[in-house]
Amino acid sequence: MIVRKPEDVTASVLEVMERTADPRLREIMVCLARHLHGFVREVNLTEAEYRQAAALLADLGKQTTDTHNEVVLMGGSLGLSALVCLLNNGDHGRAETSQNLLGPFWRLNSPPMDNGDSIVRSETPGPVLFVDARVQDRAGAPVAGARVDIWHSSPVGYYENQDETQADMNLRGTFTTDDDGRVWFRTVKPAGYPIPTDGVVGRLLAAQNRHPYRPAHLHALIYKPGFKTLTSQVYVDDDQYLETDVQFGVTRALVGEYRRREGPHPTAADIAAPWYSLDYVFTMEPGEARLPMPPIK
Ligand code: BEZ
Ligand code: FE
Repeated sequence: MIVRKPEDVTASVLEVMERTADPRLREIMVCLARHLHGFVREVNLTEAEYRQAAALLADLGKQTTDTHNEVVLMGGSLGLSALVCLLNNGDHGRAETSQNLLGPFWRLNSPPMDNGDSIVRSETPGPVLFVDARVQDRAGAPVAGARVDIWHSSPVGYYENQDETQADMNLRGTFTTDDDGRVWFRTVKPAGYPIPTDGVVGRLLAAQNRHPYRPAHLHALIYKPGFKTLTSQVYVDDDQYLETDVQFGVTRALVGEYRRREGPHPTAADIAAPWYSLDYVFTMEPGEARLPMPPIK
């Protein structure tokens, strides 16, 4: 089509997109073209702004390396990761789900542990936390023999791979659920932490006067054939950033009750008060048991 007016460009592009052979790709490309053209019209995008946007996308790519993904960080900072997660789990967003963001700190081969073990592998000052978790299916029946891979930041907000003072695999470990679907272990209470702000995402946050923090959380990746692999986070209920997570990841279902205990621990005399306990129930959904690509190589 030879273009005479702006609407002709959109019509012409849509006609080409409609010729995409793969039906799903066709659906996506037609819709994307419609929304992109509509967006440019709605905001009256200027030529300078279009150049700026192109440079920004190029920068997202340039700032992405083997160990850092600025594109995913931007997706999270725009709420896209959270939205895609909620629309694809919990009966397509109609029911509560334990699914949440994977984040960039999951590592393959976290050490196998026995229930009752501690995942503190080097001196890590901070309040002791006892976790007792149960894994169930949608009907509430226990899921026995599931692998529960746990990882979290230290009480000052660093994962072990970001912090020379922590031993390799500190605050990481993989447990197996017993016949009642339970795992239990000892650790220390995690703290929230800022996402990196030295790239395009940092510029966005500054322009919007947003803080860069994620509220404190405990990650779990739960795997058992016959279920969709569960990527979850249990957020700390007394965290100041619970309502304003920079990645929009906090859902009502994933706020855990981290109970603060002032008295002595009933069995371990070495534990100083306050210490914490967390009881939490994860619900697995039907689907494919597939491990994600490890963000850390
Ligand atoms: C995390 O939970 O580890 C995380 C998720 C998204 C962006 C950054 C960190
Ligand atoms: Fe995290």
